[in-house]
Amino acid sequence: GKVGVLFGGRSAEREVSLMSGSGVLKALRIKGVDAHAFDPAERGIAELAAEKFDRVFIALHGRYGEDGTLQGVLEQLGIPYTGSGVMASSIGMDKVMSKRIWINHGLPTPRFLTLDAKGATAEELRTVPDELGLPLMLKAPHEGSTIGISKVQGYSDMQSGFALCAKYDEVVLAEEFISGRELTVPVLGKGREARALPIVEIRAPQGNYDYQNKYFSDDTQYFCPAPLDEALTKRIQSLAVRAFNALGCAGWARVDFMLRAADNEPFLLEINTSPGMTGHSLVPMAAKAAGVSYEDLCVEILRMADL
Ligand code: DAL
Ligand code: MG
Repeated sequence: GKVGVLFGGRSAEREVSLMSGSGVLKALRIKGVDAHAFDPAERGIAELAAEKFDRVFIALHGRYGEDGTLQGVLEQLGIPYTGSGVMASSIGMDKVMSKRIWINHGLPTPRFLTLDAKGATAEELRTVPDELGLPLMLKAPHEGSTIGISKVQGYSDMQSGFALCAKYDEVVLAEEFISGRELTVPVLGKGREARALPIVEIRAPQGNYDYQNKYFSDDTQYFCPAPLDEALTKRIQSLAVRAFNALGCAGWARVDFMLRAADNEPFLLEINTSPGMTGHSLVPMAAKAAGVSYEDLCVEILRMADL
C-alpha cells in the first residue's frame, strides 16, 4: 500500500524531525515500500486526508506530532500509524504526567515538584533548592531534544532556567539531579510482547548531552551494549519495558535513565514515543547492536502500525 512518512512539523524539534524523516523515507524506499514524504506543517490535514495513505510512519518529534494530537487526527481519518496511541503519546510528551504514573506503578524516578510558569513567586523559586538540593534540573515538561532544560547550581541559575522554561511551557518541572551515568533503552512491541533492545550509554563532553551534543557533535561517545553487568542490564531493561507499559505505549519508544553513581540505582527520566531516527540517534544504534539494520528497523516499526 501507499505509505506516508510524516516529518518536519511545527514543533521546536522540526530540524531534528527533518533529519529523522529523511532517513526513514530513504530506508523504506530501499526496502521497496511505496513511501511518500509528507510535512503536516506545510500541507495540513485536508491534504493529508486527500493523500489516502494506507498507513503512515510518524517521524515527527514534539508538539503536533508526538503528543497525541496528530494521532487523534489519524484515528479520525482511519489511517493506521506507527507508535503509541492518543493517550500514551499525550502522557509520554508530558514529563510530569509520565513521572506521576511511574510513581503510581512503584517505578523509580527522581523527586520533583512543579511550578506555575506564570504565577510562581520569587519566594517559591528560592525554596526549590531546599526541597530538591543543588544542583537541580529545570525542564519544560512538553519539550524534547533537551530544549528548555537547564542545570541549576544556584539562585541566579534558578531565575534564568525558570525564565527559559516559561518560554516553552505553562508548567515548569524542577527535578532532583541524579549524578551518574546516562543510559537509554529502546523498547519495541506492545503489552506482553514488548521487549527492550540493548542499552546505550551516552558520555557527552562535560556530561552535557544537550542539543548540540545530541545531533552535531562528534565528541559525544556512545557505548552499546552499555558496559554494565548482566543483572543490572536485565533490571534496567525490565524497568524500561514496565515504564513503557505503565503508560500504555505501543510499537516503539525510547526510555531515558540516569544510573546513580553512588549506588548504581536506575532512575527513569522520561520516555520518547517518537524517538529520533537521525544519523546520531540512539534507537538505530541499539538496533544495530542487536543485529537489526536501520532499514529493517524502519520496516518493523511500520509493520506494527495499527489503529
Ligand atoms: N526528542 C528526540 C527526537 C528524541 O527523543 O530522540
Ligand atoms: Mg525527550
